[in-house]
Amino acid sequence: MYAQMVETGQKSVRALADMSSEERAFQQRIDADVKVEAADWMPDAYRRTLVRQIQQHAHSEIVGMLPEGNWITRAPTLARKAILMAKVQDEGGHGLYLYAAAETLGVSRDQLIADLHAGKVRYSSIFNYPTLTWADIGAIGWLVDGAAIMNQIPLCRCSYGPYARAMVRICKEESFHQRQGYDIMMKLCQGTAEQKAMAQDALNRWWWPSLMMFGPPDADSVHSAQSAAWKIKLLSNDELRQRFVDQTVPQADYLGITMPDPDLKWNAGRGHYDFGAIDWQEFHDVLRGNGPCNRERLATRVQAWEEGAWVREAALAHAEKRADRGDELG
Ligand SMILES: [Fe+2]
Ligand SMILES: [Fe+2]
Repeated sequence: MYAQMVETGQKSVRALADMSSEERAFQQRIDADVKVEAADWMPDAYRRTLVRQIQQHAHSEIVGMLPEGNWITRAPTLARKAILMAKVQDEGGHGLYLYAAAETLGVSRDQLIADLHAGKVRYSSIFNYPTLTWADIGAIGWLVDGAAIMNQIPLCRCSYGPYARAMVRICKEESFHQRQGYDIMMKLCQGTAEQKAMAQDALNRWWWPSLMMFGPPDADSVHSAQSAAWKIKLLSNDELRQRFVDQTVPQADYLGITMPDPDLKWNAGRGHYDFGAIDWQEFHDVLRGNGPCNRERLATRVQAWEEGAWVREAALAHAEKRADRGDELG
């Protein structure tokens, strides 16, 4: 699949012979797996594509804090509360690494945040679904963080150094997130019939949106060919989605709950699970801003930004004072 994608990519992207000498040297370094660093020359389109991809990713991390942050005060035990707080805090940290990686490409964090708040850039559509019960926190960790890991592991090898290095640390933390989610599901599935039904209900609601997290089918994916040639997208959407299904179905079997998909079955010939058709209409509706929580999520972000203004001002005043005193860390 990947070989095939690169082949199509090489047909639709320019041949080395048609490139300027700078572009050719750039592509040859990428082909030789040399990382691109912030100060290196890079084509404008490479820079733009990365800014778009990294900022969408950064925004997804911080908007992703909202549906789960919503459950911190209602976590069923003190231990669960501490774990969930650590998890949500990690996501804030992921946003921080990624905004910093985007800034190395010459954009300011303030501008990126302003674009998010103005609705000009997207974040992962999964965070526009509501968290209705405690089991949703389990399903999110298990499925949403699980899908994020599947997407992000290949990015640790992507061509842009600052992004690749941020991903290494993020992926380590994501695997803790996935485990904590699965652990919540385990407890519920080993509990009362009512608790198990709650886990099943959460799976029913989060399964399809999780599959949509990998993006549109390869046939409709506009950016894949060039991004593959630049090694900023190393595996195709459909390939990652299939890997996720193959990994996750046995985990549901172990829990004793079932995916809400009557067409899901093991295909021995392919060596993969077949699964039913995804409702892409729903995906596009949510992307267009019509998901259950789009407006609420954005309004909460804007409010948090406005209410945090005094913290930013105080931090800046403190930094200036230290600089005036000549403190080394100033
Ligand atoms: Fe994260
Ligand atoms: Fe996470």
